[in-house]
Amino acid sequence: MTLSPWPLWIAHRGAGKLAPENTLAAFRLGARHGYSAFECDVKLSADGLPFLLHDATLDRTSNVKGVAGEKTWAELSRIDAGSWHSRAYAGEPLPTLGSIAAFCLANSHALNIEIKPTPGVERRTGEVVAREAERLWRDRTLPPLLSSFEPDALEGARAAAPRLPRALLIDTLVEGWFERAQGLGCVAVVANHRVYDTAMVARLHAANLWALCYTVNDDSSARALLGMGLDGLVTDAVDRFSPHAGRLGV
Ligand code: G3P
Ligand code: MG
Repeated sequence: MTLSPWPLWIAHRGAGKLAPENTLAAFRLGARHGYSAFECDVKLSADGLPFLLHDATLDRTSNVKGVAGEKTWAELSRIDAGSWHSRAYAGEPLPTLGSIAAFCLANSHALNIEIKPTPGVERRTGEVVAREAERLWRDRTLPPLLSSFEPDALEGARAAAPRLPRALLIDTLVEGWFERAQGLGCVAVVANHRVYDTAMVARLHAANLWALCYTVNDDSSARALLGMGLDGLVTDAVDRFSPHAGRLGV
């Protein structure tokens, strides 16, 4: 029995790799494939506006180079974040958290906001993103899930918006991961899918923590994870995994 009120399948960075990651175009494509739950990466501009970008720099996913968090939103808003992917998406802008929220709220989509701070501003990023998320989702029954690999970001989120649900992201089973998730008052752990086994899912569930995983792109892994009773699978493969596939089969 799942603990999570979320859809089982979560589209990674909007639509994985099929559209430029972390753009509105990617979210629209993921939704066209039937997805109703999404993950995205959020950081702050130099003037403190939360926007979507995975890397600390703009180099890989835009036509500009440099540390994104050192640019103001006025500068970031003029950047082409689509041409690097393909001609079809040329001119696609970086989205603010506000514009992604508008899309998700209008369509009743669930959103997992991964707080992805520029190094050095972890706590502040958690605080600002959580405050903005609380404002955007006020009075909604399904609030966004705030996740991060950075405990300081989750501490900041807790201080700014204690009622918003939080999740600790882990790539490996580092010493103390379970206690850390509990200590941060998390509702979930989002772990690399490779670290899961049945005992880990049972341990999380016994502590009332949802067991989510990333980034599941092949059938055999998906089948094994569903068999373990995972509560959520983050995937790039929105064109291959039906978002309606159940917990007992893919
Ligand atoms: O939130 C799950 C997943 O997105 C974590 O890894 O590097 O794709 O942000 P990454
Ligand atoms: Mg992410």
